[in-house]
Amino acid sequence: MIWLIGNKGMLGQDVGKLFKRKRLSYLTSDKEVDIANYQILQEFTKDIKIEWIINCSGYTDVDKAEKEIAEAFQINRDGVRNISKIAAEKQSKLIHISTDYVFDGRQRAPFAYSEEDETNPINVYGKSKLAGEQEIEKILEEYFIIRTAWLYGVQGNNFVYSMLRLFKERDVVKVINDQIGSPTYTADLAGVILKIIESNFSGYGIYHFTNEGVTSWYEFARAIYDKSKDLGLLGGDRRVEIRGIKTDDYPTAAKRPKCSILYKDKIKREFNLKIRNWDKALENFLNILSSLPSQE
Ligand SMILES: NC(=O)c1ccc[n+]([C@@H]2O[C@H](COP(=O)([O-])OP(=O)(O)OC[C@H]3O[C@@H](n4cnc5c(N)ncnc54)[C@H](OP(=O)(O)O)[C@@H]3O)[C@@H](O)[C@H]2O)c1
Repeated sequence: MIWLIGNKGMLGQDVGKLFKRKRLSYLTSDKEVDIANYQILQEFTKDIKIEWIINCSGYTDVDKAEKEIAEAFQINRDGVRNISKIAAEKQSKLIHISTDYVFDGRQRAPFAYSEEDETNPINVYGKSKLAGEQEIEKILEEYFIIRTAWLYGVQGNNFVYSMLRLFKERDVVKVINDQIGSPTYTADLAGVILKIIESNFSGYGIYHFTNEGVTSWYEFARAIYDKSKDLGLLGGDRRVEIRGIKTDDYPTAAKRPKCSILYKDKIKREFNLKIRNWDKALENFLNILSSLPSQE
């Protein structure tokens, strides 16, 4: 039995879809089974033998976390501690999703952070996610922590949807061009989670996973625009100017790492993974969107 936590979130929905397609036995929970409440988790899992726990839940609003510090830590640290305690009691293996925001991003491209590199989060969200990782390391031995970045998927709010909306509403869209990273399709990450479960591999620890390649938010936006135009997702004669701007010209509540490329050799080697480039994954994602019934 697998327990998928956060099954209503953006990543969780893709993981659930994959489990269903593979006919795996799994139970799900989301906000209604509050991970910050240990008794509730104990009650929910009472008398159930659980082999794997997959945690896709989390407090994920990076800007709001700057104000809601206690809430972010309650979910991303205390909630993860509770899940780890349940995993220890039930002798379950845990797959937990973490973030590139555990790093400060002060390195310059092409530098990529490896799993052993020093962490130094620069915002509350990153600090709370790092605290969650540390709880797992204290309590469990059989865990996989996957740090990922710049997620987008069919379900949920994400950068691709924001851009598609702005391209319809505005003639000029300004996008930050001095933050560098790797956009990652949730369906690809879901595939890796499945591979870890199926492999039965016991090389527990921290792993990095994103789609291959590196880009800026600006270049990412350009690719979304070009590909969605080709696919007819935007009106045929609609022209939008995409303008690159600096981080300093777009103040947000939370600071973000400037360069948060994750080095992925470990996960590629241990799980024999071939990871596709971010632009190919984006193309696939937009193809799927173009085949869905219009939301308008
Ligand atoms: N999105 C990214 O770009 C990104 C990048 C790197 C790492 N990650 C990590 O990847 C994971 C999945 O991200 P995502 O974007 O798929 O997140 P998401 O869409 O925000 O999904 C998270 C889910 O967890 C639920 N949740 C919140 N508080 C909970 C609680 N106390 N108990 C149980 N469930 C709770 C949320 O419910 P509500 O929506 O009702 O609050 C939501 O359904 C997270 O751990 C995130 O930190 C995300």
